[in-house]
Amino acid sequence: MEPINLGITADFHVHLRDGSMCELITPTVRQGGVAIAYVMPNLVPPITTKKQVEEYHRKLDILSSKTTFLMSLYLCKELTPELIDECKDLIHGIKCYPAGVTTNSKYGVDPNDFSSFYPIFEAMERNNLVLNIHGEKPGSDNDDINVINAEPRFLPALKKLHQDFPNLKIILEHCTTAESINLIRELNKDGKGTIAATITAHHLYLIIDNWAGNPINFCKPVAKFQNDRKALIEAATNGEPWFFFGSDSAPHPIHAKQQHVGVCAGVYTQNNAISYVAEIFDKQGKLENLKKFVSENGIKFYGLTKELEKHKQAVWLIKRDNKVPAVIGNGSIEVVPFKANDTLKYTIEWR
Ligand code: NCD
Ligand code: ZN
Repeated sequence: MEPINLGITADFHVHLRDGSMCELITPTVRQGGVAIAYVMPNLVPPITTKKQVEEYHRKLDILSSKTTFLMSLYLCKELTPELIDECKDLIHGIKCYPAGVTTNSKYGVDPNDFSSFYPIFEAMERNNLVLNIHGEKPGSDNDDINVINAEPRFLPALKKLHQDFPNLKIILEHCTTAESINLIRELNKDGKGTIAATITAHHLYLIIDNWAGNPINFCKPVAKFQNDRKALIEAATNGEPWFFFGSDSAPHPIHAKQQHVGVCAGVYTQNNAISYVAEIFDKQGKLENLKKFVSENGIKFYGLTKELEKHKQAVWLIKRDNKVPAVIGNGSIEVVPFKANDTLKYTIEWR
């Protein structure tokens, strides 16, 4: 097979952490074939000020100067419309975590009532910022929410937000169910192009059986059923403009994934991000749509133009055996990648 030019690739959902983990993981964005990375703010403490955004961006730039890092703020009651106006040129969006549903989400929001955030959403709308939503409803002792239905149960809140803010760009992040895919298609019938969903690499491979019993594959939202996986593959490989790549690569130290209780949620895919996705497109006979998914659709949705300028090299997809390492590490920290020790069919080169 001839190499395929994927252009300037983008991963619209990455977790790069801080400290030693950040030093290990940040350079793997480029190794995995990604030129532009949209960085999640769920650090400890979360990113909620202009100064934190600036400092984190500077740090990432030093760790990988050829990558473009797009920054975000963490939605919480400390944010103000004035702060949004002030940060509009530093960030591309704001991440909304329902409190308690995933790693470092305890400062997040109650999705049963978004109304207190409406002034923030208005400021985002006027500044053309994206609202990135972790779409799961938190459970309590008095309801029947669980890891399987938490995403479908969140969808009415998503629909209402889109109705109340039809011009606000909203992304349902790392969607995992056929219901979500259908809703995104349905809502796009309004022709506005303001609602989209990202799809990870690992959710194109995994179902419930693959994480029940294997903490390396455990993430939030959890991988669901075979019909859901098929719907995600179809949505990703079809080329529809409202579905694009956000790896949700979420590294955790090996010991935090291998303990018996309190296993951390998150699958690390960054160092082979594009190769994992390519293999699925190949199996579907849809490699011709890969560039749309990993480059064009998301870049268009976010309206990126000046962010593309510094990229003089494109990512090329090469058909060549590519063994996933058992672990990656830097002496102080080790992370087990998705499909560790497997041989992937594709690799990437920068040309
Ligand atoms: C993410 C993390 O580890 O930060 N974990 C995950 O399972 N995806 C948080 C998130 O995006 O939910
Ligand atoms: Zn995430």
